[in-house]
Amino acid sequence: MRYPPANSRCPHMLHGGDYNPDQWKDVPGIWDEDMRLMKLARCNAMSVGIFSWSALEPEEGQYDFAWLDAILDRLAAQDAFAVLATPSGARPAWMSQRYPEVLRVLPDRRKALHGTRHNHCPTSPVYREKTRSINRRLAERYANHPALLAWHVSNEYNGECHCPLCQDAFRQWLQAKYGGDLDALNRAWWTSFWSHTVSDWSQVESPSPIGEPYLHGLTLDWNRFVTDQTVDFFRNEAAPLRERTPGVPVTTNLMGTYPGLNYWRLAPELDVASWDSYPAWHGPQGDVREAVRVGFLHDLTRSLKGGRPFLLMESTPSMSNWHPVSKLKRPGMHLLSSLQAVAHGADSVQYFQWRKSRGGCEKFHGAVVDHCGHEHTRVFRDVQEVGDLLARLDPVVGTTVRPQAALLYDWENRWALEDAKGLNNAHKDYEATCIRHYEAFWRQGVPVDILSMEGDFSGYRLLVAPMLYMLRPGVAERIEAFVAGGGTFVTTYCSGMVDENDLCFLGGFPGPLRRVLGVWDEETDGLYDEDEGRVRILDSGRTYAVRQLCDILHAETAEVLAVYDADFQAGSPALTVNRFGKGQAYFIAFRNLDDFEADFYAGLVRDLGLVRVLDAELPDGVTAQLRSDGERDFVFLMNVSPEPREVRLQDPAGLRDFLSGNGLGDGTILLPPLGFRILERPAVGLF
Ligand code: GLA
Ligand code: ZN
Repeated sequence: MRYPPANSRCPHMLHGGDYNPDQWKDVPGIWDEDMRLMKLARCNAMSVGIFSWSALEPEEGQYDFAWLDAILDRLAAQDAFAVLATPSGARPAWMSQRYPEVLRVLPDRRKALHGTRHNHCPTSPVYREKTRSINRRLAERYANHPALLAWHVSNEYNGECHCPLCQDAFRQWLQAKYGGDLDALNRAWWTSFWSHTVSDWSQVESPSPIGEPYLHGLTLDWNRFVTDQTVDFFRNEAAPLRERTPGVPVTTNLMGTYPGLNYWRLAPELDVASWDSYPAWHGPQGDVREAVRVGFLHDLTRSLKGGRPFLLMESTPSMSNWHPVSKLKRPGMHLLSSLQAVAHGADSVQYFQWRKSRGGCEKFHGAVVDHCGHEHTRVFRDVQEVGDLLARLDPVVGTTVRPQAALLYDWENRWALEDAKGLNNAHKDYEATCIRHYEAFWRQGVPVDILSMEGDFSGYRLLVAPMLYMLRPGVAERIEAFVAGGGTFVTTYCSGMVDENDLCFLGGFPGPLRRVLGVWDEETDGLYDEDEGRVRILDSGRTYAVRQLCDILHAETAEVLAVYDADFQAGSPALTVNRFGKGQAYFIAFRNLDDFEADFYAGLVRDLGLVRVLDAELPDGVTAQLRSDGERDFVFLMNVSPEPREVRLQDPAGLRDFLSGNGLGDGTILLPPLGFRILERPAVGLF
C-alpha cells in the first residue's frame, strides 16, 4: 500500500519553494527569467502569495489578481504547479488602520501597532470575515486553474492575543469546558492558593506578566484555548477553500515542536502535514546531534498524520539569516539534508526562498537565486542536484514506514512540566530529553513514530515516554493495557506527577502508573550543573553519571536493575523493570547526558528483537531510515559525520543500489563525509 500523492495530478516529488513575484512587479522580464531558472533547477511546485495581501487587495474591496493570473499561467505552461497561499500571515496597512480590532494585544496588555507579520487577533470577527472573503475569491478564481496543486493556509500560525474579544472568547471557552460550574473551575485551578478564588466568570483574565503568570491550571487552559482558537481560525480560512476546491489538499506550514500550539489538535484539520525546517548545520554541537534532532522533527511531522508522507514546505538552500551565525551549507550538505527529509517521509523539498529579496529583513537569507541573478552559483548547482535526484524518486512518493517503536511527545505535558516551579528549573529540558531517547534509535537505524499520549499504542512493541509528568484521564489505563498485552513501556524520572489540570496525584508518585511500574517514587532530587551522581548496573557492574535530575525510588513489585552508587541514596533503585501481564515496564530514575540511553536501548532492541532497517553495525554518525510500500523497501543510508564511514552489510544479496541498479558485491559500503546511498530490496518487516 502507498498513500496517494498530495495531489494526484502530480505523482512526483515536489521541488520548489516560496516565490514572491509580487516583489518584482516593476522589473521587466524577471518573471520569465524566473520561469527559465525554475526549469533549470527542476522546480515543479512554487508557493505563491504567502505575503501578498497588499498586492491582491491594495485598497479595501479593490482587487488585483492580474499578476497572480500571469504567474499561475506561466507555471502551468511549463507543467509546474502552485502551492497557493492564503494571505492572512500579514495584512495591508489599510486594514489595521480602519479596523484596529485586528491588531493583537500583547500579554502585558499593550496594543500592538501595525507591522511585521503573524500578528492578527484570531478572534476578531472582522479579520475572520476578511480572510474568509479573500480566500473565497482566490478559491473561486483558481478553482479550475491547471497550476493549482495545494492550499498553503496562512503561514506558521503562532502567538496569542489578549484583547477584550479574546478575553471574552476565553471565558466562553471556560464556561463550556467546566459546564458553567465556576466551583469546578476553582477546584481544577486550586484557586484557594494565594486567595485566587473567582466568584464571577468576568474576573477571569488570561495569564499576564502584570497579572497572573503562576496559576498553572489557568495557564494550561489558556494554552489549550489558544490552540483551539487557532484551529477555529484555520477552519474559518479553510471553509471556502474546501467548498470551492474540494479535491485540492489543504495544509498549513508547521514548525516542528513549536511550543505555542498543540499540533496534535491542528493535525486532524490538515489533509497533509507540512513543516519548515531550519537546522543549524556545521555549528558547535556538531552535525550528528543536529541530524538526530531534525530526524525527530521529521518523524514527528510524519506521525501527525499517522504515517502519511508530509511536505517539507520550507528549508534553506544555503543559510538562514536569523541564526546567530549565518553559516553556509558545506558542499554535500544541501543534498544530504534534503534527502534526510525524504528518508523520514517527505514527498517534497521546498525552500524559503526562490529569489533573494532586494530589500527588507530577509534579503540575506539563503535563496535559490542570489542577487547576482543568474544560475552560475554554487547554491544554484546544489539545488539542481537536489532537483535531479528528486526527479528519480517517483517510486518513493507515497511510501512510508510502520515502526515497531513509538515515543511520546506531548505538548500539554510540555506546557505543564515547563510551568512547574521546582524539580530543576534550569534543566527541565523535556524536548531535549525526548530527542536524547530518540537518538538511541536513530543511531541503530530503528525507525520510530512519535505519538501524543492519546495516540493508539496498540500497533507497537515498544513505547518510550520520557518525563511523562502529566497523565490525562485514561492514559495510565491504556499504558497498563499495552503492557499487559505484551508491550514494553519505558518511562523516566518526573513521570506520573500531575493530572490534566496540573494537580498533583495524591497517595504517591508515579500516581496511576504505580501499578504498572511497580515502584513508589518518593522524592525528586535536582542537581547543580557541577554535581555528578553515579549509578551502577547490577549485572554488568558498569557505572553511569547522574546529572541534573534523579528520583529516589522504592521497588514494590519491580525488579531492581541498577542502584545509585553515591550520595545518601546509595544502594536504592535507579533502574527497575516490572513484569506486568505479558509485558514489562521500565523506570529510569535518573538523567544521564552520556551513553546510558544508547546502551540501554541497544540492549532492549536486541532483547525484543526489534527490526533494524539494516542488519549491520552503523558507525557513529550513520543512520539508516526506511520507506516502503509493503512490497519494495527503500533504505536511506546516510553519513552525517565529517569523516568517511564504512558499513558492512550482513546479508547484501537481497539488496541493490537504487540509483545505479547495481548489486552490492561483498556488502561493504563506503560512505564519504556527508555521503549517502539509497538501497532497495523486497520488503521486510517494517510495513
Ligand atoms: C519562516 C517563514 C518564512 C521565512 C523563513 C526564514 O519559516 O515561514 O517566511 O521568514 O522563516 O527562515
Ligand atoms: Zn484578540
